[in-house]
Parts: sequence; C-alpha cells; structure tokens
Amino acid sequence: MENYLQKIHDTAQYLIKNGILSPSTGIVLGTGLGQLLQHIEVEKTIPYHEIPHFPIATVEFHKGQLVYGKIGDVTVLAMQGRFHYYEGYSMQQITFPIRVMKELGIKQLLLSNAAGGINSAYKKGDLVLLDDHINLQPENPLRGLTDPAFGSRFPDMSQPYSPVLAKAFKNKAAELGLHLHEGVYASVIGPNLETRAEYRYLRNIGADLVGMSTVPEVIVANQAGIPCAAVSVITDECDPDNLKPVDIAEIIEVAGKADAKLSQLFAEVVKSIHGVSNLKS
Ligand code: HPA
Repeated sequence: MENYLQKIHDTAQYLIKNGILSPSTGIVLGTGLGQLLQHIEVEKTIPYHEIPHFPIATVEFHKGQLVYGKIGDVTVLAMQGRFHYYEGYSMQQITFPIRVMKELGIKQLLLSNAAGGINSAYKKGDLVLLDDHINLQPENPLRGLTDPAFGSRFPDMSQPYSPVLAKAFKNKAAELGLHLHEGVYASVIGPNLETRAEYRYLRNIGADLVGMSTVPEVIVANQAGIPCAAVSVITDECDPDNLKPVDIAEIIEVAGKADAKLSQLFAEVVKSIHGVSNLKS
C-alpha cells in the first residue's frame, strides 16, 4: 500500500502546486446537485482528468471537476461529481479523493446524494439528514490497508456522522424553514434500482432510504478522523406495495428541483461551522 500512500501524496502535492491551499471543508456533490457552486466564490476549478491518479467520472450526469473557493470566510474544496463502485472502480479508487482532501487538511466533510425513500413519511424532493447507515456494498475501502498512516485498522463506527455537524444542519434548516428528516441510509452497489422484494428487505432491516454512494466515503472519513455529515434528496418513493417504474432521468430531474434548497442549506451550514472546534463529539 506504499504505492497508494505515495499516490495520495503526489496528488495532494499537484493540487497544492495548483493553488489548492488549506481547504477547511470538503464537499461531495451528488447526482443532480450542483447549485452549491453558485454560493462559492470560485478561485479554481480543475477537471478530474487533469489530476494525477484521479479516476475519471464515467457517469455522464456527473460533471467531474474539483472546485476550490470560499463560502463566506470558509475555504472549501468541492467535488462536483463523485465516483461509484458500479462504475467499475475499486473502493480504494472511489475514496481516493477523500484521502487526498485529508492530506490537504480538511477539517470536516459534507456529502450530498440522491436516494430512494423507503420510509413512508418521505416524499419526493424531501431532504434527509443521515443519522446512521447500513453498508451493503460488496467491498470495503479499508480492506488491505495495513499502514497506520491511514488511521485505525478497526475504526469505531458507533457515531459515523458528527452530532455537532448534525446540529448545525438541523439549526440552519429550521432557520431557513426547510423540513429536514433524519434517517438511516442503506448503501447498495446498483446500478439497477431495487426490486419490490429488495425494498421490502431494506425496510425490514431498518433502512429509511437507499442509494448507491456515500458510505464508502464516510467509512474512509471516519478512519481518517474527519467529522462528516450527509444529506440526501429523496428522488423516488420506494413503496414495495405500490411501486411505480422509475428511471434515472426522473431521479435527476427531482434532485435538480431540490438542488436550490439543499445548496442554500449547505452554504449556510458551511458559514456557521466556521470556528467550531471538536466537531467529532
Ligand atoms: N435505489 C437506489 N439508489 C437510488 C434510488 C433508489 O431507489 N433513488 C436514487 N438513488
């Protein structure tokens, strides 16, 4: 794994040379969610294909660039477009940018995604703050990483999402008049959507929502000691007893409609966490 550490280091050095200096907040923007960029005073954008060792986004609706700049006084580094296991990459490849962000010095990580709503209280377009997750991905991003430089080999996951960041999200959502559910996210490989029996199974094991991302990044962030928070946009309602066919175009459209409110929420949270220490507890 020396090679993996070296690649992380090389990529971080490349970004530093290109002016990506001391970002304090890392952000991962999910499917159909990009309007946060309008809240960033952009200083630099770098397409993934120019960054050494970065995977290339293969999902055409994911933009594939790093955006560096400021939201208020806070220096942010946003990934516009993420990587998924279903694209064919390894878990270590899809979480590589999180390792690089750690090396660049981020103090917290905020993630967004599009997800299917399993909890019957969730409606299309609703926002859900992740309180916990169930990892159903077929591989683990920590597998084989023995070097202590990555963090603990057996990271604690009793609280994968920072309660302090969660509070910031809840406070800001209330101030903005946005309803924010809280729920348990199941991460599946995809890329197909689920069958009725699978949605029933997910409901029975305690999931409130389901998507194809986020958990690998959150596992790595936890190992690396980076406090994180994640918010999903519900793009389809997954009632196994009344399941309507859904296609990816519709999912992107619903996410796009919720983009403005989610972006506003993210921007306000970023501004409010400035100066807050001990985000982990
Ligand atoms: N299942 C899995 N991933 C998803 C879904 C879903 O219903 N909706 C958006 N991403």
